[in-house]
Amino acid sequence: MIAERMSRIGTETAFKVLAKAKEMEAKGIEVIHLEIGEPDFDTPKNIIDAAKRALDEGYTHYTPSPGLIEAREAIAEYTKKYKGLEYDPAKEIVVFPGAKPVMFFNILALVEPKDEVIIPNTGFPIYESMVNFIGAKPVSLPLKEELDFRFDPNILNELISDKTKLLILNSPHNPAGSVLSKSDFKAIAEIASDNNFYILSDEVYSRILYDGEKHYSIAQFEEMKERTIILDGFSKTYAMTGWRLGYSLAPEEITENFVLLQTNSTSCTCAFTQIAGIEALSGPQDAVDSMVKAFRERRDAIVDGLNRIQGISCRKPKGAFYVLANVKETGMSSKEFSDYLLYNAHVASLPGEDFGSEGEGYLRFSYANSVENIKKALENIESALQKLD
Ligand SMILES: Cc1ncc(COP(=O)(O)O)c(C=O)c1O
Repeated sequence: MIAERMSRIGTETAFKVLAKAKEMEAKGIEVIHLEIGEPDFDTPKNIIDAAKRALDEGYTHYTPSPGLIEAREAIAEYTKKYKGLEYDPAKEIVVFPGAKPVMFFNILALVEPKDEVIIPNTGFPIYESMVNFIGAKPVSLPLKEELDFRFDPNILNELISDKTKLLILNSPHNPAGSVLSKSDFKAIAEIASDNNFYILSDEVYSRILYDGEKHYSIAQFEEMKERTIILDGFSKTYAMTGWRLGYSLAPEEITENFVLLQTNSTSCTCAFTQIAGIEALSGPQDAVDSMVKAFRERRDAIVDGLNRIQGISCRKPKGAFYVLANVKETGMSSKEFSDYLLYNAHVASLPGEDFGSEGEGYLRFSYANSVENIKKALENIESALQKLD
């Protein structure tokens, strides 16, 4: 008999859509993949070379549970440079196999079953899954299209109760590509100080910003560092999804508990990928700059193209590599329309509903694909919609 708690765990439906698309491809149908949340670029060569050298140099053993101290030092330096924040590599940083474990471990280490966790709706589906899994209550914080998929701090204030233990923030945001403003962060900081809860700040898209937009971390605001856990990683910034490398930046007491959870689960993160991670953070950053430049061109292509199609509209996201397009005029649910596009336009997308109830009526398109494929997808979508008339 499977344990009861497993009935409360969720998943990421991206993998289900991918399976449907693969079935079509097995029948010889060409599908354009706009569902996948990963850069289509190869990992930069200097990072691959560093991993190869590390293997030759014998980085094939266990490392300390929190990670190689050299890797933690590189993370501390990088964080100081890009976020202006100082963390002690020996006491406040843990290297994980991916950024995702930080979500799970943060919720395990801090949240009791009686607690409430405020999560963005729409939001990355694993937040809600993990909160439900441990038996706590997810409280939904609606992100509104009219606010460029940000939230109203007054609404956040109304959602706080004496059970609120944690707020999850994700800027730049998946699935909407939205970015919180400095004044949003100021308002959130005030609310957090007044009400004494922790914040998990998911910053995996912090380097993927457009049009001069600046990244803010809630930890930069007064009195916030001591109540913030930053989750960041390498997957999106350095096209390293398959390497499984991420990290936490958190106060010492929380970090100690993360280390215990790592020792009890994975022991440590792969040694030679940690060495590659040092190269990623400390080596040349021009590959990041050119990836972001390419993403910006693709964003403009997909946003302009979608807005030209009758029945679809979308805002111009300021970060990440997703657009959340409004498809309410089609009259179909987001799941129906996503299936319709897969089978009739051969374009894979994700229903917004898979990211929370606020996503009903929206589709998430990932533009981590070439401009050529994006243009072809747009043509296919337009002709599939014309067939509906
Ligand atoms: C918002 C968000 N956080 C975290 C992750 C997980 O990152 P990683 O692949 O490094 O575990 C993702 C991946 O899609 C994401 O979109």
